[in-house]
This record gives sequence, C-alpha cells and structure tokens, in this order.
Amino acid sequence: MSILVCGGAGYIGSHTVKELIGKYEVVVLDNLTTGFPALLDERAIFIEGDLGDPVVLDRVFTEHNIDAVFHFAANSLVGESVQKPLKYYSNNVGATVVLLQKMIEHGVGKFIFSSTAATYGIPETDIITEETPTNPINPYGRSKLMVEQILSDMAQVYDFQYTVLRYFNAAGAHPSGQIGESHDPETHLIPLIMEQLLGHREKISVFGTDYKTADGTCIRDYIHVKDLADAHILAYEGMNNGKVSNEVFNLGNGEGYSVKEIIDVCEKVAGKKAVVEYTDRRHGDPAVLVASAGKIREVLGWTPGYDLEEIIKSAWKWHNK
Ligand code: UFG
Repeated sequence: MSILVCGGAGYIGSHTVKELIGKYEVVVLDNLTTGFPALLDERAIFIEGDLGDPVVLDRVFTEHNIDAVFHFAANSLVGESVQKPLKYYSNNVGATVVLLQKMIEHGVGKFIFSSTAATYGIPETDIITEETPTNPINPYGRSKLMVEQILSDMAQVYDFQYTVLRYFNAAGAHPSGQIGESHDPETHLIPLIMEQLLGHREKISVFGTDYKTADGTCIRDYIHVKDLADAHILAYEGMNNGKVSNEVFNLGNGEGYSVKEIIDVCEKVAGKKAVVEYTDRRHGDPAVLVASAGKIREVLGWTPGYDLEEIIKSAWKWHNK
C-alpha cells in the first residue's frame, strides 16, 4: 500500500515525504507551479500533474495501490488570495473536490488535510483551541475552511475518514540540511531575515510596532517543519488503529514569539546584526496567533522536538547552503 502525497515538491510536503520514506511507499503528485524539483525525494515515485486533472488522478489511483492521501498542494499567500480570489477558490477548493471525487470513485478512504490558523481570522482570545470559532477574513482562510466543511459532509455518507491539521507558522529546515524553506516570491519572516543576514537583501521590514503586545510587534507560534511532518504520520497511524477519525487539530508549539524576538534569535544564531526598518502594519495581520496544542498532544501523543532556537539554527544551516 502507498501513500499519495499531493504537493510533495513543496516546503511542508517534501519534508513529510522524507519522514514517510522508509516506513511507507510514497507516490508524489505535484504540478511544480510552486514546488521545486530539487525538493523531490528520488526514493518516491513522482508524477508531474495537476490534482484537478481527472485523467491524471484515474491513472494514479489505477496504477498504484493508494491507501491514503496527504494533501499539501495549495496556494497559500494571504495577500495574493485577496487580489486573486478565484485562483484560490479554483485551486484550493475546486481542484480538491476533483481529488476527493476520484478518491471516492477508486475506494480510497483516508485523507489528511493541510489547513491553517487563518481559518480563525482575528480570534477573540490569544490562545486558540479547536473550539475557538472559525471566522476567516481572507479568501485563503475561507478556501481552507470550505474544504474542512466538505470533508465533514463526506464523512457522513461515504466510506471516508479524514484528519484536519490547522498549521500555525511552519519554519525551519530538515536536519539533513538537504531541503528547507523556499518560496518564490519569499514573503515569510524567517527566510527573509536569513536572506538579509546573508546579504541577499538590503533590509528586513517589521510590519507594525503598535500592536497591543509587549514590544508592539505581532506574535506568532512557530513550529518546526519536521514536527509538522511527524504529526501527519501520527494522524495517519491514528486513523489506521482507530484512535482518531474525522478530527481537527491545531498544530503549533503552543508558545508565541514577537517579530522582534524572532529577529533577536536569528541575530544570535547568525552572530551578526540584521538591517531592520520599521514600517506600517501589513493588512490582515492579527496581533497574536498562538495555538493550544493540548488536543494533538493528548489524542495523538505528539510532542514538538524543536524549540525556537533549534528551529532557527536549522533554517540558518539550510540558508547557508
Ligand atoms: N512579518 C514582518 N516582516 C516581513 C514578513 C513578515 O514583520 O517581511 C511579520 C508578519 O507581519 C507576521 C509575522 O512576521 O506578524 C509572520 O509573518 P509570515 O508572513 O512569516 O507568516 P504569517 O503569520 O503571515 O502566515 C502564516 C502562514 C500562512 C497562514 C497564516 C495564518 O504562512 O499560510 O500564518 O495567519 F495563512
């Protein structure tokens, strides 16, 4: 039996493939629009194609004995989603529906879905549990929540079960140093700081210093990408042994750090000072987003292996390569 990883050439997908290999046979489906060939693991079977393409999906499900689908493939830039909502609804919802339909047709009934803290919008409490009301404020968050709702409806009537993982801020690189975080264009805080510290960028902008936080900058919950990958495998094994079915989990370390604190730790790890400018807020950024990771710890026995400094050390190692 194999696991189909949609988006296995992307940042989080490629790290999960590395953890799966050796334990499971892996088939990667990726159209390489935002993923990179360099992130592909040669030990996985790679199929270049679109998850909204029924012909490709029929081939994948016919030629391979797929037990479960891990679905990472998506567009994930909040700002872009506001400018191009149809791209997000088409790729993140429309193409996913085609994938789900093909799963049902081919009798594949386990699905692990990459969702996001953006489903919560601007929460009323600083610490977010899975019971915190969802109220996404941009098309990206809405597209992910729509798929969550579709999954819940499907599980009522089909031989189908799912796990939803709502990621907080994924960061860091694989301990091997072979793969790490890279996007084009890069918009994420830690890679941007790394690139500045390496002299590839003139400066790093801090978006807003007037938030109601201790130092005025936004607080986020950063989780190492390998810890994220491990959670997917625990979720899959939990579905196999009947421990979980149709559950939603937050996936964060449960600790918040401000933008200034992140810059401080990056400077400490790199042993040099970053060039920083302070600018206005970025539209749509909530002040504080921190997960309560209690449910996933309790139900799946997940524990994070990396603290913030270790996350940043792994990112620094990768960026130096
Ligand atoms: N930030 C800066 N300067 C930058 C880039 C980011 O100050 O140049 C700040 C942001 O304002 C934010 C923090 O650094 O406070 C982290 O920003 P990122 O862009 O790295 O990540 P986000 O928190 O915006 O995004 C993450 C995921 C999204 C998800 C979102 C949920 O990457 O996919 O959390 O809110 F939608």
